[in-house]
Amino acid sequence: MKNKKNLGKATQAIHAGEAPANAAAKSGIPLIPPLYQNSTFRFTSAAECAAACTDEESGYIYTRWGNPTQRVLEEKLAVLEDGEAALATASGMGAVSTALLTALADGGHVVAMETLYSATHHLLSEDLVRMGIETTFVDATNPTEIERAIRSDTKVIYLESPTNPLLKLVDLGACAEIAEAHALISILDNTFATPCGQQPIALGIDVVVHSMTKYLSGNGAVIAGAIVGKKTFVERAQKGALRNFGAVISPFNAWLTLHGITTLPLRFAQHCENAGRVAAFLEAHPAVAWVSYPGLRSHPQHELAKRQMDKFGGMITIELKGGRVAGEQFVNQLQRCALAVSLGDVRTLLCHPASTTHSPVPTEIRQQTGITDGLVRISVGLEDVEDIIADLAQALELLTS
Ligand SMILES: Cc1ncc(COP(=O)(O)O)c(C=O)c1O
Repeated sequence: MKNKKNLGKATQAIHAGEAPANAAAKSGIPLIPPLYQNSTFRFTSAAECAAACTDEESGYIYTRWGNPTQRVLEEKLAVLEDGEAALATASGMGAVSTALLTALADGGHVVAMETLYSATHHLLSEDLVRMGIETTFVDATNPTEIERAIRSDTKVIYLESPTNPLLKLVDLGACAEIAEAHALISILDNTFATPCGQQPIALGIDVVVHSMTKYLSGNGAVIAGAIVGKKTFVERAQKGALRNFGAVISPFNAWLTLHGITTLPLRFAQHCENAGRVAAFLEAHPAVAWVSYPGLRSHPQHELAKRQMDKFGGMITIELKGGRVAGEQFVNQLQRCALAVSLGDVRTLLCHPASTTHSPVPTEIRQQTGITDGLVRISVGLEDVEDIIADLAQALELLTS
């Protein structure tokens, strides 16, 4: 019998963490993990309750401290990400903030990738600064820039790869070596690649965070997040920042997410297959100035993508030749694909940052950070790829006619 860590991803996604609690019973074991939709757990004596409060491994006490449905999800995630332990959180930002608050519990300095998901950037550049924690933002596509920014009080290297929305990559092995050499904690947001697209912990990264709102749940029905890493780090996060700041996942969202994950390997493979076809179509289109997709030979880090990624992902970013007007006309013209800010859904979702998420940001600042006026981010869904391409083609036709 193979060790569960050596099983294939599809088997892990379905079976990991799902060992029935009453394995000794001969029948009547629920096939799918039950939903424990309760806030608290009762005890038969004060001594039993006191024992559980002293040794939390011996039983569940209160759902903010842990719940059997959350536990199944966490065990599944730990196996999929090849980590020692995992912690489910109320949102992706709950995971990012809990991981950072844990790693920086005694204060310190962060070196971070300059282009990050906007709320993560805000957390590092404003919220944590008010708590005395400074961040130096660098172009982490060049690992020597990370090394140059390290100070005596640096505690964390914080990264995304591929980044949102420009799909730049970071050499994860090289960054992990720098973190190890300076005794720092490396944290990577693996939302875009998922454990089916890249295995950061196997490449030496200490802590992986996720927005499970995206590919992991895949159904567009929940907001959820996760932290995966060493048991000691995950336990500190659970007993400290998660419990006390309170970004705890609800049992129902944990239950929906764990069912979503059972089909992740199958879904993600198809997202990647569809995205490859859509990227090739867009690269050849006269209305498109450039396409960023790690699987294209034209991506400046395609060789790195081949080295560190198992699959190139379902996200594509394009620049339209006609700038902001073209971006707005393009998304207004879509018929089947949806204009929506999330990603990783079974439905194809597009967003035009200049007219939506980033419209309050002054044009010069947007240009400096690469969020140009004609930029459109596409989360390629699981519709038949011919239908996705047909919808994009009819919307692009307006721009060239
Ligand atoms: C890369 C990345 N990380 C984190 C988040 C935050 O996730 P959530 O919305 O689940 O808090 C997002 C959301 O879009 C994201 O794209």
